[in-house]
Amino acid sequence: MDDATIPPVQASRPPVSRRSALFGLAAVGAIAAVDVGGFLCAAGALDADTLTPARLTDRFEEVAGHHDGFRRNHAKGVSATGYFTATGAGSAVSTASVFRVGRIPVTGRFSLSGGNPFAPDADDTVRGLGLAFDLPDGEQWRTAMINTPVFPDRTPDGFYERLLASKKDPATGKPDPDRMAAFLSRRPETAAAMNLIRRHPPTSGFDNSTFYGLNAFQCTNDSGVTVPVRWSLVPEQPAGSAGLPPKGRDYLFDALTAALRRGPLRWRMLVTIGRPGDRTDDATRPWPPTRQVVDVGTVTLEEVRTEAPHNARDVNFDPLVLPTGIAPSDDPLLSARSAVYTESFTRRSGEPTSPSAVDADGSAR
Ligand code: HEM
Repeated sequence: MDDATIPPVQASRPPVSRRSALFGLAAVGAIAAVDVGGFLCAAGALDADTLTPARLTDRFEEVAGHHDGFRRNHAKGVSATGYFTATGAGSAVSTASVFRVGRIPVTGRFSLSGGNPFAPDADDTVRGLGLAFDLPDGEQWRTAMINTPVFPDRTPDGFYERLLASKKDPATGKPDPDRMAAFLSRRPETAAAMNLIRRHPPTSGFDNSTFYGLNAFQCTNDSGVTVPVRWSLVPEQPAGSAGLPPKGRDYLFDALTAALRRGPLRWRMLVTIGRPGDRTDDATRPWPPTRQVVDVGTVTLEEVRTEAPHNARDVNFDPLVLPTGIAPSDDPLLSARSAVYTESFTRRSGEPTSPSAVDADGSAR
């Protein structure tokens, strides 16, 4: 792709660079100090006094219970390792070193949404993939993606309300339909996004899922041209390749572990370039399918391990840890995510830990 095909949508601004160690509270704490302020501004449109990172994190605990040492969302997961091989095509869009031809080590984490680390796997539970790229000179790129083509909420307060509206009634095992209907009538953007999500049923497993970054970012190339982007990971594994075992409690994770024992899994990383008028502040809306897509490389994951000290268990996949050349957009979810992930990370890091629900090492507990 040459520069002429990149639409100049806005005056370029200096990209945000955040450098930090992959593990360690000190570095993450420093990032939190920046992002909490951003979150309060984002939430300020509705209720700056009450919607804080702590309250949003409390709501996960209110809905899913308190589980010492686990993430407050996407609590159930396994660590993964592998690498990213860049095609070099991404350099037309961004100066980020990750897009230069070469190979970069990657730490990943496959997860299921929800705050209960012992919940049984289910096809319709949202699947997550977090990736941390270890770039030269100590730079990091972290991204956390899910398997739905849009996000249900446009704003942090919408997310906060939806958590409670979706809380399962213990009597029926389902959300209270009246509460959900009332919530959706107040949030037409969520109703529309959920209809779109329903039209994209999940695949058979983690290995053949497409993972979407959903939030928009701004990429700047070495000519100083800045464009809005979204990224996704498209599996090279064909649909249904997982060879599903009988549906036990952890059937999705067991199938993933079995697939990786047979060989590495690969996803193409596609960067979609927005055009003027494409919303960068609304993850409930897809961009038109005609947008230019750049194939920037391949993520290869070779191994999964049970969560343990110093693997992905101890990573905060904060979406605002970005390399030079990629900057946040005006999407209000981004600063909220950053602040709440850090709140969740800080809480879980200070708690006693118990063994993860998912045994990916093959060792009986
Ligand atoms: C306001 C919106 C959101 C809130 C409040 C929120 C909250 C959280 C929290 C508290 C965690 C656990 C963090 C940790 O302890 O490390 C988490 C993890 C995660 N979230 Fe979100 N999230 C939001 C939006 C999103 C969006 C838009 C996506 C996808 C594009 C996403 C994907 C994920 C994934 C994949 C994980 C698991 C990452 C890991 O393995 O550590 N979230 N989220």
